[in-house]
Amino acid sequence: MQHKTVGDISNPNTYKGIYSFHKYWGKKPTESIAYFIQKYTKESDIVFDPFLGSGLISRECLSRQRRFIGIDLNPFSIEHTKLVLDLPNPDEYQQAVKDIEKIAKTRIYDSYKCENGKIASHFLWEEEILRKIWSKAERGNRKIEFEPSQFDINQFNSFSNYEVKNIRKVTFFTNSRINSKTTMSIYDLFTRRAVHNIDILIDEIKKYPKSLQRALILTLTSSSGQMSSMVFAITGRGKTKNLISDKVEVGSWVIGFWCPKLHFEINVWNCFESRTKKMHKALMETESTNYNIYDNVDKLLAAQNGATLVEGNCLNIMKLIPDKTIKLICTDPPHSDRIPYLELSEIWNSILNKKVSFEDEIIVSNAKERNKKKSSYIEDMKILISESSRILKDDGLFLLYFNARDKQSWRFMEILETNSDLCFVGAFPMEYSANSVIQDNRAGGMKTDYVLVMKHKNKDFFSENELSEIPGWINTVPKIDSIVA
Ligand SMILES: C[S@@+](CC[C@H](N)C(=O)[O-])C[C@H]1O[C@@H](n2cnc3c(N)ncnc32)[C@H](O)[C@@H]1O
Repeated sequence: MQHKTVGDISNPNTYKGIYSFHKYWGKKPTESIAYFIQKYTKESDIVFDPFLGSGLISRECLSRQRRFIGIDLNPFSIEHTKLVLDLPNPDEYQQAVKDIEKIAKTRIYDSYKCENGKIASHFLWEEEILRKIWSKAERGNRKIEFEPSQFDINQFNSFSNYEVKNIRKVTFFTNSRINSKTTMSIYDLFTRRAVHNIDILIDEIKKYPKSLQRALILTLTSSSGQMSSMVFAITGRGKTKNLISDKVEVGSWVIGFWCPKLHFEINVWNCFESRTKKMHKALMETESTNYNIYDNVDKLLAAQNGATLVEGNCLNIMKLIPDKTIKLICTDPPHSDRIPYLELSEIWNSILNKKVSFEDEIIVSNAKERNKKKSSYIEDMKILISESSRILKDDGLFLLYFNARDKQSWRFMEILETNSDLCFVGAFPMEYSANSVIQDNRAGGMKTDYVLVMKHKNKDFFSENELSEIPGWINTVPKIDSIVA
């Protein structure tokens, strides 16, 4: 646990250790969160995040001896947060990987064995046509490239009747923004050979006790993009009429469900193994801890430390929290139509074999079947604000991370004037670290995420001068017109 200063807020570090391990859409730097926890809460105070996401905030709270309540509708989010709080021992993790390797690697490698005896690391596909195969040279990092033979094509086709065993049926909606359709199945995104090999890994992972199993299955979800047919091939194609140039490089899975015309099928064991190395490194770099995680809100309220993590709709679950119990609400809801969290997490949740309640998501979605309109988003956000006002202590603070590119999506803030006991104190920009990939750079997107600070009306328990030390601090709601790109 590092002490954070006001200067750290505008100069966040790149994620390290377990914080850097898994991608989550909209993952926020922890500097501003840590600063507010330190400065405006004390030991055993309760911090609350109803839109938990990757859940890094939970560790920031528990490492400072604060209690924490986190809610998220996304089952992936709860699993990831449990990982962040309940890390397996790095040696046990490494041993488990070695044991899995003994059983799974040979079986998976068999499926990639080529006629020339080499084990393929990459297959370059042009739509349905297998163009090239790569394998690793016996020594060094060099790759060997060769033309596929009929044997190699038959080897691929031998999986054409394979039916998935361990991944639940995926649900997709018609969303042109992320290229999904209701008719899409797992086989549109992964080859059947990849699905077969992922099944082998899941069979093995299931044999481990919970904390190790979670770390292993999240290692698998984090490598699933690279195992899919969505890995594009970067090429100088086009320069020489319709020919694949000699220089082809491996891209990665980007946001959405595009299977590019020219794409890779990558050896599933290799993808998994390289992520296990990253996970092991993350475990080595992160202090091991033994936090109490309670299975319901009441147990947390009765305890002096620990966290409770609840999967579900925060608007319902917040009703279980008594009036005036929370010292700091620090949360980052979906920002209108910016990132469709549940739709994008669907592959991860299907690998975790978790059901998803899409209907409860607070979001504005392009998917027409979902009927997620701006008007209901604004109404839900108003309920969030009034429930937050009820559970917040008199001397509590409410930090809302927000960024929407249109004025209408900010209208939930009107409730502060009309029907809430909260008032707006000010706002400051939330910077990402220089290495972060900002996940939405569409034209019209706001350049900066803001943290909106609210408190109870007529409760003056701190000097607003303190807050004005935060770089970029403003006393008014950010003006949308001036911050839209
Ligand atoms: C912006 S993300 C949070 C990211 C998080 N701050 C982080 O650093 O990773 C918003 C989250 O809200 C969740 N969510 C959407 N609707 C919800 C609801 N009704 N109840 C609880 N969580 C919800 C999504 O699943 C998503 O994880």
